[in-house]
Amino acid sequence: MLNIQDYITENKDRFLNELIELLKIPSISADSAYANDVVKTAEMVEESLKKAGCDRTEICETAGHPIVYGEKIIDASLPTVLVYGHYDVQPPDPLDLWNSPPFEPVIKKTKLHPDGAIFARGSCDDKGQMYMHVKAFEYMNETNQLPCNVKFMIEGEEEVGSDNLGIFVAENREKLTNDVILISDTSLIASDVPSITTGLRGLSYVEVEVTGPNKDLHSGVYGGAVANPVNVLAKMIASLHDENNHITIPGFYDKVEELSQAERDKMAEAPFSLEKYKRDLQVDDVSGENGYSTKERASIRPTLDVNGIWGGYIGEGAKTVLPSKAYAKISMRLVPNQNSDEITELFTKHFESIAPASVKVKVAPHHGGEAYVTPIDHTAYLAAEKAFEKTFGKTPIPKRGGGSIPIVELFEKELKSKTILMGFGLDSDDIHSPNEHYGIWNYLKGIETIPYFYQYFAEMSR
Ligand code: BES
Ligand code: MN
Ligand code: MN
Repeated sequence: MLNIQDYITENKDRFLNELIELLKIPSISADSAYANDVVKTAEMVEESLKKAGCDRTEICETAGHPIVYGEKIIDASLPTVLVYGHYDVQPPDPLDLWNSPPFEPVIKKTKLHPDGAIFARGSCDDKGQMYMHVKAFEYMNETNQLPCNVKFMIEGEEEVGSDNLGIFVAENREKLTNDVILISDTSLIASDVPSITTGLRGLSYVEVEVTGPNKDLHSGVYGGAVANPVNVLAKMIASLHDENNHITIPGFYDKVEELSQAERDKMAEAPFSLEKYKRDLQVDDVSGENGYSTKERASIRPTLDVNGIWGGYIGEGAKTVLPSKAYAKISMRLVPNQNSDEITELFTKHFESIAPASVKVKVAPHHGGEAYVTPIDHTAYLAAEKAFEKTFGKTPIPKRGGGSIPIVELFEKELKSKTILMGFGLDSDDIHSPNEHYGIWNYLKGIETIPYFYQYFAEMSR
């Protein structure tokens, strides 16, 4: 029987070509102009699950984009792994910053990916990482080694908040029963420093609108005498952090989980070079909440960031105008025990309270989600750890991640199961950015590692 390494060597080109086909379809969930491409991608994913050996697959319609479901149940008495991933991608803009078109995948070598990386939107987040599971399952199936039941749930709305998946999960608890949920949609510390993500941040996302005068005005005739909503918004936003970079919203930190010094010391042991971090981003210094390290600021601490701000004249040349309106999109990353609805409410109250009488403000909430922490003494964590040890020759380091996958906390609530975040990307793979890429080595390493997870999880669950 072929072992996984030999199977990969034999099928490597096909694994790459299949992924490349998937990456060619612009499944941009945020933009309704791509709705047909989203459906086409769902159909391709379903087909791939069928071919890999699922004995039942289905495209589940929702009020938004469809969910692809597949399963292979070999014995109801064996444990069941539910694989979750997403086939939708972020919009690729700004397009002019891509070195090759986002939906025409190309393979290029980089310093961190000497074996080559696939450059395309979604290559790492999450088509490439999701597809590793399809291929790992194919191997287990082709070689008759599947030691447990497998269910796949691959959605098309992760990048827009997974609202419809939340409904689907609540309505299909029976169908989705499992012993653990397995996701590859996070990153490794480095290709030679394996890690397992044990935490995700929550999210509260709001859009604010500040209105001054009822129409755009001449900035000479009225300027100085009427509130400029862009000026006011800038000042309001600036006031949301104090001189220590603490967030000033009353009550914001009330429920924040404080880590013990021992836990913080443990975190600090994971390899990290601030010099390299700054060099990679071409910044002379970093910035963040006083009293916390860069790693802590980007994982165990909550944040508030403007994601976009606009208003007034932004065309070519100079137009003298005092705008009527200003807008901003603001995200708050949350940590365990903070509740996203509560934080949205605290933000709204505070933002309204600091608005001067010369403007009106509106706050509209977007999607949110809660933080999540995986226990590192869970059988599935130990199985994942052993799988990494087998294929990397090193024990993976548990690491809290800074990003959010809001559905994970909902999985725990609705399905009562824990999630293992077994990601193989790198933070430098430019997810959500121009020139997103995914290392071929990482892709194949994922395909190699996942079968061991199945094997060890089944063994250790007995
Ligand atoms: N895969 C990411 C989340 C992620 C990335 C977690 C890196 C840990 C490390 C996911 O696709 C994502 O982008 N999530 C969004 C939230 C969503 C509600 C739009 C995020 O974190 O901004
Ligand atoms: Mn993702
Ligand atoms: Mn994403």
